[in-house]
Amino acid sequence: MTIMFPKMTASAPAPVSGIIADLHIHSTASDGEYSPARIAAMLDKEHIQAAALADHDSFEGFQEFRNAFHGVSVPAVELSVEYEHTGLHLLAYGFDPENKAFISCLEHFQKVRYERIGKMCERLCGMGVAVTLEDVKKNCPPSTTLGRPHIARALIAAGHVKSFNAAFEKYLGDGKSAYVPKARLDFYEALDIIRASGGVSILAHPGLYHRELAFDVLKKLPVDGFEAYHPNHSRSFSRVLIDHCLRHELPYTGGSDFHDLRRNKANVIGKWGLTSPEWETVRSYFNANCAYRIG
Ligand SMILES: [Fe+2]
Repeated sequence: MTIMFPKMTASAPAPVSGIIADLHIHSTASDGEYSPARIAAMLDKEHIQAAALADHDSFEGFQEFRNAFHGVSVPAVELSVEYEHTGLHLLAYGFDPENKAFISCLEHFQKVRYERIGKMCERLCGMGVAVTLEDVKKNCPPSTTLGRPHIARALIAAGHVKSFNAAFEKYLGDGKSAYVPKARLDFYEALDIIRASGGVSILAHPGLYHRELAFDVLKKLPVDGFEAYHPNHSRSFSRVLIDHCLRHELPYTGGSDFHDLRRNKANVIGKWGLTSPEWETVRSYFNANCAYRIG
């Protein structure tokens, strides 16, 4: 039987109550606006007991976050991968943070990202919109993995646009005038790298791919599990994912995908994720299957 994606709700559904684990957060180590230590303080205020920074192609923020957060921190990273010409995001959890092959893979993709941002700046300058790579890097920590939001911030600071949305609408969005496609890791290669580093792979926000891939295809992807709770998932779609995972004894995760307080107002930190029994199940799964001991 073909399971269709439930129609996404126009406005985000209300967060589930009783969340104690937010496993999908972005910091200044990639395109988030707040430092790992600041994120930790925000989570402590929300009484979150387990969390993961899942920065794009980087876990530079992990140590700072782990030192500052009073709850349990899980090493994580969000990888951009390509599956049959479709871009997907894979969350890797619980890998060995010292694994050399994994670290060099991330370093490679950070370099590629850096070059891409440079090319987009060149395109903007070519159109008379003066913004340089130096402008983009100006207020970022040196280890930041650069992304389009950093260019958007530089465009706003220089007065070229008034908002993030305007920057993406006019210049940076897919197919727009300054857009340069992102080089992505092959999906299967990414799975191998995650496994070899002792991590597990979770397909991030499966509800965001419904235009490209049917659910029947997505649910057969050989990932270890699926992200069920996400601000862009309707409650009914989260339920479909959870039922699928329970039926096949796969773990499911959840998180806010928080970046900042301005851009995506639905992605409220600490308000999306797992309840206590759900987190305990995931914690046991991670401890049984990952190189990193969560405790
Ligand atoms: Fe994300």
